[in-house]
Amino acid sequence: MTNSETKATLSFSDGSPALEMPIYKGSIGPDVIDIRKLYGSTGMFTYDPGFMSTAACNSSITYIDGDKGELLYRGYPIEQLAVNGGDFLETCYLLLNGELPNADQKKEFVATVTNHTMVHEQMQFFFRGFRRDAHPMSVLVGTVGALASFYHDSLDINDPHHREVSAIRLIAKMPTLVAMAYKYSIGQPFVYPRNDLSYSANFMHMMFSTPCEPYKTNEVLVRALDRILILHADHEQNASTSTVRLAGSSGANPFACIAAGIACLWGPAHGGANEAALSMLEEIGSVDNIPEFIAQVKDKNSGVKLMGFGHRVYKNYDPRAKLMRETCYEVLQELGLQDDPLFKLAMALEKIALEDEYFVSRKLYPNVDFYSGIVQRALGIPTALFTGIFALARTVGWIAQWKEMISDPEQKIGRPRQLFVGSPKRDVPAIDKR
Ligand code: SDX
Repeated sequence: MTNSETKATLSFSDGSPALEMPIYKGSIGPDVIDIRKLYGSTGMFTYDPGFMSTAACNSSITYIDGDKGELLYRGYPIEQLAVNGGDFLETCYLLLNGELPNADQKKEFVATVTNHTMVHEQMQFFFRGFRRDAHPMSVLVGTVGALASFYHDSLDINDPHHREVSAIRLIAKMPTLVAMAYKYSIGQPFVYPRNDLSYSANFMHMMFSTPCEPYKTNEVLVRALDRILILHADHEQNASTSTVRLAGSSGANPFACIAAGIACLWGPAHGGANEAALSMLEEIGSVDNIPEFIAQVKDKNSGVKLMGFGHRVYKNYDPRAKLMRETCYEVLQELGLQDDPLFKLAMALEKIALEDEYFVSRKLYPNVDFYSGIVQRALGIPTALFTGIFALARTVGWIAQWKEMISDPEQKIGRPRQLFVGSPKRDVPAIDKR
């Protein structure tokens, strides 16, 4: 971050003294105006609901250019990482450490993660308290938060070793917990992780093996899942990442912060959109119903949105959506489902929407969630678990951002202010006077 030659000057039409503010340049992307002295100098706050024009921190992890449809993890384009950047654990290493691992570093990192995939045996009792039809995200919020009760040796966020250990534990245990949530929901016994399988193959094993029959690893499907995880690993200061940072700014332990991130991701406007997008496609049912559905979406009173479309930052195609559509095609081909009606419906809906003025004028393009549900359904993952998979993938991004925040000397507890529009001070009347 460097000081720009240019300064920002805030002047007031009532003749109040102007305020000069520094402008900082990053390595790429928009500059920022440092408004930290604004309240002290003017007694006023900025007003920015939804933080549309607010940089909450400086970061070197993920860069997004919404106009170009560009996504970089530590400078590497997502298209390269997803296609020839190795597997998800290499992306995890990159996000956590800033560089891709060499062969020895990867071997050590994989071994470390692999040896933390089991959860404490008493974790299973938390599941017993949930209804079998509990939404997996409710189970994950509960069980990830509960991890803090087992790991008192890695809760001191000011100890770099504790931060490292809790990062590995969360990345390693999320697949185990997500698979346990699935097994619990279908009444099958939990399946323990296996150390001889890759991260994604191990997850598929824990999801689909039973005591009666092991899961037969299909490398095309495992690779597809691995790519889904890479595409969802991090995404700048999105709602759930900002939640993790805000929770972390109070000094909360990493397990509590990730549980908070999971809770935020659950929302249909955010990570819940993949589940909502698939339900939307199933509700539309056939290409013939698309025009009527599009008409509903255009009717503001309907409250209907085209789930899997639109993005706060991408005002061009979400690069992850393109890669997800390719993955979708590969998986359906591998499974002999290339005529999958939902995939055809999704492509027809995308084509119609991208030619429709309503969506074009609002720069609404498919986002990562539009195709991810179709791929996950083809992999045998139940719809209700889609957002759990998103949380599994995003855990590394949340942790990388949380670690960056903890070690940022500029960070302090996050505490936004407000424009108060409620009642000025008044006296409490006796009840017989109300
Ligand atoms: C993710 O931030 C991230 O990076 C998130 C994420 C990540 O990796 O972490 O990328 C993951 O959350 C992707 C987004 C998934 N959500 C959905 O697909 C749900 C559907 N999308 C919308 O809810 C919406 O597009 C948002 C929430 C994603 C973005 O909303 P914004 O930026 O606040 O945009 P907006 O609501 O101000 O919309 C601008 C206009 C409005 O119309 P007008 O008032 O101008 O007439 O576009 C319309 C909106 O009504 N609009 C949509 C729409 N999204 C926006 N209209 C129909 N369908 C949609 N999906």
